[in-house]
Amino acid sequence: MCVGKPLRTPGKSGSANQLSSDIRLLLRYLPLSLQIVILAAGLGKRMRSDLPKVLHRVGGKPMLGHVIDAARALSPTRIVVIVGHGSEQVVSAFDDPHIQWAMQDPPRGTGHAVQQALPLLDCSGGSVLVLYGDVPLVETASLELLRVAADSGSLAIQTQIVDDPTGYGRVVRDAEGRVLRIVEHKDATPHERRIDEMFTGIMAAPEAHLLRWASQLRNDNAQQEFYLTDVIAMAAAEGIDIATASPGHEREMMGINSRAQLADVERALQEKNAEALLEQGVTLADPARIDVRGSLTCGRDVSIDINTVFEGQVRLGDRVTIGANCMVKDCTIGDDSVVHPFTHLDGVRIGARCAVGPYSHVHPDTELADDVDLGNFVEVKRSRIGEGSKAKHLSYIGDSTVGRNVNVGAGTITCNYDGANKHRTVIGDNVHIGSDVQLVAPVTIGAGATIGAGTTVWKDVGDGSLVVNEKTQVTRAGWTRPVKAPKVVKPNAAANAIKAVKG
Ligand code: UD1
Ligand code: CA
Repeated sequence: MCVGKPLRTPGKSGSANQLSSDIRLLLRYLPLSLQIVILAAGLGKRMRSDLPKVLHRVGGKPMLGHVIDAARALSPTRIVVIVGHGSEQVVSAFDDPHIQWAMQDPPRGTGHAVQQALPLLDCSGGSVLVLYGDVPLVETASLELLRVAADSGSLAIQTQIVDDPTGYGRVVRDAEGRVLRIVEHKDATPHERRIDEMFTGIMAAPEAHLLRWASQLRNDNAQQEFYLTDVIAMAAAEGIDIATASPGHEREMMGINSRAQLADVERALQEKNAEALLEQGVTLADPARIDVRGSLTCGRDVSIDINTVFEGQVRLGDRVTIGANCMVKDCTIGDDSVVHPFTHLDGVRIGARCAVGPYSHVHPDTELADDVDLGNFVEVKRSRIGEGSKAKHLSYIGDSTVGRNVNVGAGTITCNYDGANKHRTVIGDNVHIGSDVQLVAPVTIGAGATIGAGTTVWKDVGDGSLVVNEKTQVTRAGWTRPVKAPKVVKPNAAANAIKAVKG
């Protein structure tokens, strides 16, 4: 720990030459080093969950992950996360050697949490920013404002005027509008509870000040907790400037204590995602009915119908159209391709001008070259389908390499599994497969071959061959189809039916 270290190393008075004053001038405009402390040791009881609260997902990512990403965007020299309940699970969810973890068990308040971080600070004389692990939608630009104020020696706190500040700490100012202190809702007088400026919990301070204040905190309050918010009154008493800044958007201050708030924050994030897509020129049939749980990158004039869920990393090329009710996970989709409704794509690379669906299911390790057409109820797994090939109805293509311009007839199945191992099917260019064909792998169909409808192929087929299974068709003229015996109505049932009609 480094209590008492001066905020900045003072210049040598009297001996300052022009060069060192230039450097000092430059330093005034360069940000000081920044360390970030993230508080994530609260119990999260109201979630009623076995999973630590900060691991609950928002937009497909643990909420703490959003806070860490926002922190990283500020290029801090250090990120310290305070963990308590479920700490092993939290630490192992973030495999990042740049994060330092500090334990706080049991949690005894936000001030006590910050105290656990103090021994890990690097005494670089810069600023420290405090974030909450359960307030995930913070934006770098808003945090930057606080950092700049702290770099110039102020205590910077994020506050917001709200209609209903119930439960939050209130910002108490003097007659001139200077911040005096923050009073927690539970400790506030009825008069103080009428203050509508609340504290969002986020603050930045010069490291040396924070170290001094945090080690003086006491817990003589309604909750017998060490309140971090008590540092505001300490700063005021010392005559340190207290700067306030509001977040750029209300959603930035949304915290998560319950499942209902988790759902609210999820919606707020999805709204933000949708706004960003519209801004980039993507057509959304309804901005309230798209979910992006990861990152979605779109080319020009992309159009997305309702209720599609995008997961992981998805890239859509120019003029891609996504139909209603699809699941698209970790996919790249080329220019001018169309995904028809109710299609499930997972780990697929799709070329240009392809059409997939409706009701297709394409699994990981699959690549569709350009101009491929997969239709209704077609399932493809671990396969490569060549340019211009089509499987338009009711097929299963697994562990296969399909050449160019192949037609896969309705009901074609690659029988890839022998009960123990998976085997490959290789289909050459320009093969024509009729309907209801079984290709028993391992099997290779030569280029230009034709497979007749209803054929089971279990031996390799040479280039240009026709394959059919010999089957005999039996016809019996004048055949009488069996008929069902007429239904006998039980007497009881008949009586009940009459009663029911009469009421
Ligand atoms: C805190 C502020 C309050 C502010 C509100 C904004 C204090 C005393 N009060 O109140 O002024 O309006 O946030 O949401 O700071 N945590 C720990 N260890 C603890 C306690 C909390 O790590 O011992 C973490 C929690 O996991 C959470 C954050 O700190 O991420 C805030 O804790 P919470 O209990 O929600 O603070 P509030 O009482 O709501
Ligand atoms: Ca809270």
